[in-house]
Amino acid sequence: MAEGTVDMAEKTANVEEGVWYAGDIDRVIVTEEEIKEKVAELAKRVAANYADKEGLLLVAVLKGAVMFMADFSRALGLPVELEFMAVSSYGQRATSSGTVRILKDLDRNIAGRHVILVEDIIDSGLTLSWLLKYLSSRNPASVEVVALLRKPEAMKVKVPVRYVGFDIPDEFVVGYGLDYAERYRELPYVAVLKPEVYRR
Ligand code: PRP
Repeated sequence: MAEGTVDMAEKTANVEEGVWYAGDIDRVIVTEEEIKEKVAELAKRVAANYADKEGLLLVAVLKGAVMFMADFSRALGLPVELEFMAVSSYGQRATSSGTVRILKDLDRNIAGRHVILVEDIIDSGLTLSWLLKYLSSRNPASVEVVALLRKPEAMKVKVPVRYVGFDIPDEFVVGYGLDYAERYRELPYVAVLKPEVYRR
């Protein structure tokens, strides 16, 4: 093959097999199949509890929760509205500082609405703790949390989370919305990266 030519056949094969980052992955913590099953299970539980309620509003925080929000909202089978917020902890961090700045606020008034905060991961719990106070101050009819992943060993504050998908070990994970340096969000599974990836 001529220098500089991309081997499209190989690229296509990798994409079809979902292995485009395979060399960077140490091990998969939650498989694509397990995520699908869990999303369906969580959606079923939530739908049963909200079947008789009007005006369900799902709030997700960009960017990590995007994949979970998309799949969870479609699995619910109830009429819902979607809202997105963007927040930032001050400064770069490997762990949360707990200080939160709103980069994108809610687009509408949530007073009187049944709100479900859709979170990809609860790590220290600091972001969630702040968000719950923030949402509650807007006088919703109710607020509950559904989180796909939780790291019990990393939690610094107690937060009431009604629906949890998986409790996982206190390791840095990527995939299904979660990133390392903005990469790996599109992976269909949740995985731990090889240590050398961080040294690049
Ligand atoms: C992640 C995740 C949660 C938060 C959890 O977001 O989406 O919102 O961290 O951490 P905590 O429990 O320790 O507060 P991140 O700030 O990495 O932004 P991103 O979603 O854009 O990747």
